Amino acid sequence: MCGIVGYIGKKQAKPILINGLSRLEYRGYDSAGIATIEKSGLKVVKNKGRVNDLSNTKGINSLEGTLGIGHTRWATHGKPSSTNSHPHSDNSKNFAVVHNGIIENYSDLKEFLQAHDYTFLSETDTEVIPNLIHFYFNSSKQKDNLRFLDAVTNACKMLKGSYAIEVLSSMYPDNMIVVRKDSPLVIGKGIDENYISSDIPAILSFTKDFYLLNDNEFAFISRTSIDFYDSNLQKINKACQNITWNATAAEKDGYPDFMLKEINEQPKAIRETIGSRISKDSKTIIPDLNLNKKYLNTINKIYIVACGTAMHAGFATKPIFENLCEISVEVEAASEFRYRNPIINEKTLCLFITQSGETADTIAALKLAKSKGAKTIAISNVIGSSITREADYTVYTHAGPEIAVASTKAYTSQIVLLAIIAIYFSEILEKNSTKTIELKNDILLLPSKIEEVLKNTEQIKNFAQKIYKEKDVFFIGRGIDYSVAQEGSLKLKEISYIHSEAYPSGELKHGPIALIENDVTVISVLTNRLLVEKSVSNILEVVTRGAKTFIVTNQELNQEFDEVIKIPKTNTFISPVLSIIPLQILAYYISKEKGLDVDKPRNLAKSVTVE
Ligand code: G6P
Repeated sequence: MCGIVGYIGKKQAKPILINGLSRLEYRGYDSAGIATIEKSGLKVVKNKGRVNDLSNTKGINSLEGTLGIGHTRWATHGKPSSTNSHPHSDNSKNFAVVHNGIIENYSDLKEFLQAHDYTFLSETDTEVIPNLIHFYFNSSKQKDNLRFLDAVTNACKMLKGSYAIEVLSSMYPDNMIVVRKDSPLVIGKGIDENYISSDIPAILSFTKDFYLLNDNEFAFISRTSIDFYDSNLQKINKACQNITWNATAAEKDGYPDFMLKEINEQPKAIRETIGSRISKDSKTIIPDLNLNKKYLNTINKIYIVACGTAMHAGFATKPIFENLCEISVEVEAASEFRYRNPIINEKTLCLFITQSGETADTIAALKLAKSKGAKTIAISNVIGSSITREADYTVYTHAGPEIAVASTKAYTSQIVLLAIIAIYFSEILEKNSTKTIELKNDILLLPSKIEEVLKNTEQIKNFAQKIYKEKDVFFIGRGIDYSVAQEGSLKLKEISYIHSEAYPSGELKHGPIALIENDVTVISVLTNRLLVEKSVSNILEVVTRGAKTFIVTNQELNQEFDEVIKIPKTNTFISPVLSIIPLQILAYYISKEKGLDVDKPRNLAKSVTVE
């Protein structure tokens, strides 16, 4: 959580920092601040509220300087307030720091510094960092630039936890130091200027050349140079990577919100994720995976571990692996998996799904699985993200940047990629070739079928207008449809703040049906031909008790229901890619109807980089 941005060049830093922060706001948006170095020294302007509110903050109009750092906050330690906002300075006001992450031992460090007469203004964990830098700066035996670097590396050696940090010093008006450990940070290289950001899309309009820092790597940056060091002040070489994403991919491109844009981008996201990995007549190719039959034959268990929507993509694809590969699969929340000592050994294969590649729990879960001898595969959408540096293998979804907090195109791309991986395993294992050929053909038809679903939004919008004032909504489904019900329910609660629950249809009679009364909304997903009759009976049971129904189905239903959204037929295994879309659209229009901020729902952040 939290976004950080930096600029060092010839232009005024303020507008560039504010522009970058507004693009990073999806990472947290309860307070914002920037610091620059002016002729008179360090100047900090910060406040509670959104990045937009900075323009009304005292001191912003006169803020000058051609290098600066910025921060948009998702509060962890200390409530949102001007004092707790970043940047934080040391007692001497010579150093200013922005930080994304958590310093776990900040209380001990505070005590240590207090014993050396340092005082603290805020309740944050971050404020220890500039003061530690000041402490080590005073005791450093190094000279010139190395003295600044020595102070920052020594301070970082004291920190436990996760951090991406930018440091400015009034004594070094032409430089900035950045470092990361377990929190994201990228450096964009320009001509006579350099940019820093928590993610690539935020600065993609300025440069396409990026350095991706590894943990505990420090960069000493000037307008014209970027030098990399390890924590022992030894210089290291790093290659610059050219990113091929188009800058407009990170813009709204005429849509009122990112979420609506991203919902509509699903045909393209799926097309690009499929790429040349599958084709009708040849074997599946995943160049990033290098697994052979001998190894796959030893695997007796697959874990799919993830958080939020990514975990729901795991639930949706468990049956594909089990059916095509005949290996038992467990899907688990990373936050649970990492603390329960799961039974894992070299016969276990672990897949970790994460759009951002930065989710703290998912990364920790991967490290645990690796330490127990399992091979690990990361499924991520962000090139060079933290998880990709930890995993044995990384396979990318090619959904393009996903900015809205509520995930849409990443979810459907993850399902498609996992289905392709299951096919790939199944082909290597020489399992049921008829099923895999059928599935491949149906995957290739998905983009045009999604386009069809996206044409039918009016009916969904009208239903949203009918139910946007509801307090509770229920989602039901069986088998794979239940996994879609879970994701639909999450979408609704995330962006409309309506309480919703998802249940397997067969569980209704074991409790939830007691909550069904006149006019309660029950949303059903119904795509499995073999379970139609049973599912329809469950829907009728709630209708009898007065429920309003909204059904997403690809089946012919003989009964009349309030609202039936027809979607094209496809292979049951990948039906979630089509059946989720009406639920994404429904959640979107309910949120709009309520006048909420669809892209930045309260209390949430796109990337959960703390536990
Ligand atoms: C947050 C986001 C969700 C996302 C989840 C996992 O909760 O709001 O949209 O599904 O994190 O994120 P990841 O980047 O690991 O897929």
